Amino acid sequence: MKIANRTFIISGGASGLGLATARDLHAHGAYVALLDLNSDAGSEIVSELGNHAKFFEVDVSDTDAIAKAIEGTVAWLKKTGKPIGGVVAGAGVGMPGLIIDKKNEPLSISNIDFVLNINLRGTLDLIRQALPHMTTAQPDGPDGERGVIIMVASSAAFDGQMGQVAYAASKGAVASLTLPLARDLSKHGIRAVTIAPALFESNMTKLLSGKVKQSLENAMEFPKRAGQAPEFARMVRDSIENSMLNGTVIRLDGAMRMPARL
Ligand SMILES: NC(=O)c1ccc[n+]([C@@H]2O[C@H](COP(=O)([O-])OP(=O)(O)OC[C@H]3O[C@@H](n4cnc5c(N)ncnc54)[C@H](O)[C@@H]3O)[C@@H](O)[C@H]2O)c1
Repeated sequence: MKIANRTFIISGGASGLGLATARDLHAHGAYVALLDLNSDAGSEIVSELGNHAKFFEVDVSDTDAIAKAIEGTVAWLKKTGKPIGGVVAGAGVGMPGLIIDKKNEPLSISNIDFVLNINLRGTLDLIRQALPHMTTAQPDGPDGERGVIIMVASSAAFDGQMGQVAYAASKGAVASLTLPLARDLSKHGIRAVTIAPALFESNMTKLLSGKVKQSLENAMEFPKRAGQAPEFARMVRDSIENSMLNGTVIRLDGAMRMPARL
């Protein structure tokens, strides 16, 4: 699947892994529609990338807000003539909390809903709403590809730590839905790939204390460091360009297996 002259919809595109992906795809000739809550960062990145980028302020847990952004993206690509090449569902949040705390209080349902609504529901809703505009695109290349859906799981999908039940549930679900999504979309020439990063430098992980970050880095086999956002972005690029990647979850984790606690 070619990247140049295609439009990619990137949620969470204003920061971290989504932003690095936007920069990388843009540098390889793509048009990028960035959907994010953070409009200040969104405007900044659009002024950096110029008229091949467009920002939409969206909360991915809000179905109508996604609908408006998809509508805006479709109107934009009618002007540019650059069809949708894929969706990168990068918007995500972590909100740690033990399922039952020291005071014998169970994790609040609002905490669980918040994480699931953004990481899982928001991912599926964005994909669901973008698809009708992908299935109707002209097939491209010898395999007749129409696009790629890229989702973001996490090491927590496989070895979630204490305090990560909600986050691990959301990311495990994203990993699980990858194969049936690929199966549903195969007749349309659309692939589905999930990337499961371990610790990567981003605004999300900036919030970790030095001690926690160090202990996660110690759990890395090799290299013993956090991943860099451009290393994630090139995995996205390869997932788009390599037509044999489909229905799979790629661990991008320096062989890290997270311990129960830090
Ligand atoms: N950085 C890591 O170590 C790491 C590891 C594993 C998985 N991930 C996953 O990678 C993805 C990107 O995370 P990141 O590390 O780049 O974090 P980040 O905080 O730098 O970026 C996340 C972006 O998502 C946006 N966002 C949050 N909630 C949103 C919502 N409701 N609607 C729209 N946008 C929203 C934020 O505004 C932000 O711009 C997330 O899904 C995260 O769970 C990150």
